[in-house]
This record gives sequence, C-alpha cells and structure tokens, in this order.
Amino acid sequence: MAPPADLLALLQGHGQEHLLDHWDSLTQDQQDAFRAELTDLDLAEVCGYFARTAESMTHTTEKLDDKMHPLQESQCGAVGKTSDRELASYANSSYEEISKSRVGILLLAGGQGTRLGTSYPKGMYNVGLPSQKTLFQLQAERISSLQKLAEEKTGRAGKIAWYIMTSASTVKPTSDFFAEHNYFGLEAENVFIFQQGTLPCFTFEGKMILGEKGALSRAPDGNGGLYRALKQEGVLADMKGKGVKYIQLYCVDNVLVKVGDPVFMGYCLAKEAECANKVVRKGFPTEAVGITCKVEEHYQVVEYSEITQKSAEKRNKDGSLVYGAANICIHFFTFDFLERVVMFNEDSLHHHVAKKKIPYVNAEGSLVKPDKPNGIKMEKFVFDVFQFAKNFVVWECLRDEEFAPLKNAEGAPDFTPTYCRNALLALHQKWLRIAGAKLVDASGKEAAQMGSPAGENNNNDADNNNDEKDFVVMAEISPLVSYAGENLGQYKGKTLQLPLSL
Ligand code: UD1
Repeated sequence: MAPPADLLALLQGHGQEHLLDHWDSLTQDQQDAFRAELTDLDLAEVCGYFARTAESMTHTTEKLDDKMHPLQESQCGAVGKTSDRELASYANSSYEEISKSRVGILLLAGGQGTRLGTSYPKGMYNVGLPSQKTLFQLQAERISSLQKLAEEKTGRAGKIAWYIMTSASTVKPTSDFFAEHNYFGLEAENVFIFQQGTLPCFTFEGKMILGEKGALSRAPDGNGGLYRALKQEGVLADMKGKGVKYIQLYCVDNVLVKVGDPVFMGYCLAKEAECANKVVRKGFPTEAVGITCKVEEHYQVVEYSEITQKSAEKRNKDGSLVYGAANICIHFFTFDFLERVVMFNEDSLHHHVAKKKIPYVNAEGSLVKPDKPNGIKMEKFVFDVFQFAKNFVVWECLRDEEFAPLKNAEGAPDFTPTYCRNALLALHQKWLRIAGAKLVDASGKEAAQMGSPAGENNNNDADNNNDEKDFVVMAEISPLVSYAGENLGQYKGKTLQLPLSL
C-alpha cells in the first residue's frame, strides 16, 4: 500500500519523504503509531534546528579561541580563600532559607550513560561502597541530612523540594526505583520526577534517521532540555506553589556531590547572584571537563568537546592552566532567573552537535549498526543560560571534597566506579582523622593515610595516575550521620577498627 498522500506531502515539504520508504511493510497499528509520531513533531521547528546546528558545524573552534578570556581571580570566591567564620556564615544563611522551605534541588538524570555502558539509569549504580548504597540513595540521604542540619540550626523544620529530570529511557526505572525504596526516607510529595524531551537524530545531510521501519531514531535533547521541560512538565508551577526561591542543580554522577551545598548557596546569597557556577581546578589539559570563562562579554562554559588544544594547554607564568576553572555541573539559580530564562530565553539557546554512531534502518529494511559516526544528535547545554544572568558569580571548591564523577566503565583511565569509591572512602577517612579518631586494621596496626585519587592542583598528565587499587582504609560514613564531616566529635581519641561503616 502506498503511503498516504497527506503524510507524504507533509514530509516532502521538509525533504524527509524517505521516512516512508518502509510504509507498506508496517502493520496497521504500526502505521497509526508512526503517523502519530510524525504529525506530533513540529517538522519546521526540528528541521530548523538542524539547519542552525549544521551552520554552526562549519564554524571553526579557532574563532572561539580569539573570543575567550579567563576568569579574573577577583570574580571568584573559593573555599580555600575564605575564613571558617565566613564559611559558617554562608552556611547559616542557607539554613535559614531551607528552614523556610525556600530551597529546591534540581537533579539532571536524563543522560543515557553510554560511556558507563549500563542498561539502567546511572543513579541506580552502586559503586561498591561497604554500604552498597546507590548514587540516588547517597543523594537522597544528603538531602535528609541537610534538612536536619537546618532544623538543628534554626529550630524550624523546613523541607527541600527535589526535582529529578529523567528522559524517555530513564523515567520509568527511576520512578519505580524511588517508589520501591520509599523515596529513601524523604516525603514522596517533595520528590518530583519529570521527563525531558527528545529530538530526532539526523544524518550529516539533514535526513532524519529511522531507528525502526516505523519509528524515528530519537535522543534526549541534552541537559539544556531542562528549560523547556521545566515549563512543559509543570515544574516551575510546582516550585512557585511551594514557594521555592533558590535552586541548586547538579548532575547525577558525582559521588561526592554536596547536594544543596549550604556554603555555595550562602556565597551566592551574599553576592546577590541570580546565577552561579561551582568549579574545581582542572586537573590537566585534556581532562574531559568544560571550563568556565568569558566569551566576549558573557560568562560561559566552553565544553571539552569544543575547546581547542591550544587554549586547553595555555599556562600562566606559575604553570597553572589559564583555563583552569573546571565545570562540575553544579549550578545555582534564583527562581526568578529560572522563570525568566524559561519564558524568554529558552528559544534562543542553540543546539550543540554530537557526532555519533547511530543505528539506522537501511533501504533494504535491515538495522545497521555503523562502526563510525554517521549522524548527529542535537543537544542543548544546561550552562548556556549563564549568559543571561545579570549577576553571575563563581565559587571554587576542593576537588577531593566535592568532585568524583562516574563516567566510565572499569578499566578506563579515570572516572570509573573504583575511582569514585576510592574518592569517597578517602574523604571519609579524612573526616575521621580530622575528628581525632585513630583508624586501625584487624591486627591493631594504624592504617596508612590515603590521599585522594586525583590531586586537585595536578597540572601534569603524567602525574594524573588515578590509583585504581582498593584503598586499605575502608571507612564509610552515612550521610545520615554526617553531611560534610560534622557531627563526628564523639570519635575524638577513639580507636576505630576497619573496615568501618558508620
Ligand atoms: C558534563 C558537563 C561538563 C562537565 C562535566 C563534569 C554539560 C553539557 N557538560 O559533561 O562541562 O565538566 O559534566 O562532570 O553539562 N543529562 C541529562 N539529559 C541529557 C544529557 C545529559 O539529564 O540529555 C544529564 C546526565 O544524566 C548527567 C549530566 O546531564 O547527570 C551531565 O551529562 P554527561 O553526559 O555526563 O556530561 P559530561 O559530558 O560528562
């Protein structure tokens, strides 16, 4: 049966008629479903995205080099440059806001986790800690702990609203996982799971790719798909209803993430910032992290896929990297800023191009898995809204306390499950030692002190050998016991035998 004339005409109008090549081999139900998919799509909009994106592919990154400027020291606050008194005062102002239920947390968990290679959402991954907790559980418990800290400081029991962005492939397993685990002790009404959109994948020539004979190949629209989803999924409305005024955003894979960090937020409040980025020192020039800088007059993150080697390798006289403010995907927004961006700026955010190997149905109707990139995914980036902020600030934290992302499967040189586990155990060991505990092994011998797996001021590739062996010191502290090293005074002068799970 020939394809229906109306559908054919619609697709021909946008040069996409090849999508109906296998129409006659589809069942009636498949045809109905495919028709619905194609007519639901705003073809002019989506093909317009491709045209804009293709145009940007022809720009050379060298041009970006000429426009980039590093951040000035004076533009950045830093844990390392701030007195304990000031840090405490920043935290206290955040506790006030938490106790008034004015704080929301946004988690980006819509990624496909391709590099890690799991078939389930990354947040459900267990990096092999003694407690066997998953990333989601660690994060949920940090939120509980933060609420408790704020209550202890202010005497008021405020709630933090947690908004979790998922995508077509992660929404169901994520929702089921939270429900099965009773939201890890949080109240279900304070956990809002929503879904970002998808976009069709294109060939380099601008043809949409068939993933099945009667279905497009689609991919999530990038973590910047957040802004559209915030409106479409009713997240902004929910925030408004709950009276959320300040929002911290983070990405799912960082095992050390201080979810809702009161110090970072307090710094932003003190600076009256409407948007901010938390950074660490970049470890070495080729590290796969974006860098925060200015491009012409605007603050921006230049992604690791877009920076030139020349810029990445530029060094200051003291040997440090010129572009060293590494993006760790932890951002701050006021509600008003977020609302303004969603309402007025979202449309102008451009898509970035990711060249990928995209399985496709060929002319004969067989599924082909290409061995080299054959098309593009179009993605918006969450940090591309920084340019719209009237007052933007940067806060630098310490890598060994706050950044150890899970990106790759075991065996890769960095950012593996073992790397993450070691980073967390090293930090918890440090907390116990600072608290004055003595850590001994089963024979009573004092355990050797362990460093973090990646030195934060490590500017040398050769030195960046992450220790992939298990740490001898197996000491894990539940977030419900300590959020960031506090509350461990009871262990002062105590001898604790390893392995240990507090
Ligand atoms: C990201 C940052 C990079 C930073 C690095 C630090 C972006 C665009 N890049 O890179 O600058 O140095 O983290 O770890 O933010 N996600 C979605 N939907 C999507 C795609 C991704 O929700 O469509 C989520 C992921 O689940 C993850 C986060 O966004 O939580 C970051 O995505 P990922 O692909 O891991 O980013 P990186 O390339 O590592």
